[in-house]
Amino acid sequence: MLRVVVCVSGGGTNLQAIIDGIARGAVCNTEIVKVVSNNPGAYALERAKRAGIEGVCVSPKKYESRELFEDALLGCVEEAAPDLIVLAGFMVKVPEKMIKRYENRIINVHPALIPAFSGTGYYGLRVHEAALARGVKITGATVHFVNEDMDAGPIIMQKAVEVYDGDTPEVLQKRVMEEAEWVILPWCINLIAAGQVKVENGRVTVVE
Ligand code: GAR
Repeated sequence: MLRVVVCVSGGGTNLQAIIDGIARGAVCNTEIVKVVSNNPGAYALERAKRAGIEGVCVSPKKYESRELFEDALLGCVEEAAPDLIVLAGFMVKVPEKMIKRYENRIINVHPALIPAFSGTGYYGLRVHEAALARGVKITGATVHFVNEDMDAGPIIMQKAVEVYDGDTPEVLQKRVMEEAEWVILPWCINLIAAGQVKVENGRVTVVE
């Protein structure tokens, strides 16, 4: 069983896609052992509760320094002894210590085709606002391993999504989630659980 900790900050629709994927057998050999949020009001925590998964909030507001918050976050994750950490709409810069400790064992879903609309300042709705402002005709989502550079780790999977005239950021966000994020995130976890994802020289290959 692949022990997965899912880190969240908001609505948790990607968390839900993983929960549902496990429930219907599309994601095999995987157990979500804990959901960690930096935001006490995250609806994702409610989703975890409904699915019978332990949900914990580690809020930066409760710590005197960033370092203390980061230590608490790492401690909370480590307690669950995960094989994989999934960032599913987690709006916190992952502490360096955590990245070192879990090299090639942290994945993130990003709502664009990296390297487009990625890096510092590109998160959530802002990504779709930028895509629309640039007038791209195709966008999508990316699942990648997390390294010390923002949105720059080895890419595991990407899926393209069309942009239509008249799209608003909200409409585009929804299409990217439905057509890409909720598909490729559970899919990647299933591949990792099956031991099919190899990282070599910063590149990912999916083996049979
Ligand atoms: C998702 O679109 C996810 O790709 C994005 O935040 C949203 C969270 O939604 N993540 C980032 O922008 C990270 N850079 P959710 O809470 O409903 O899964």
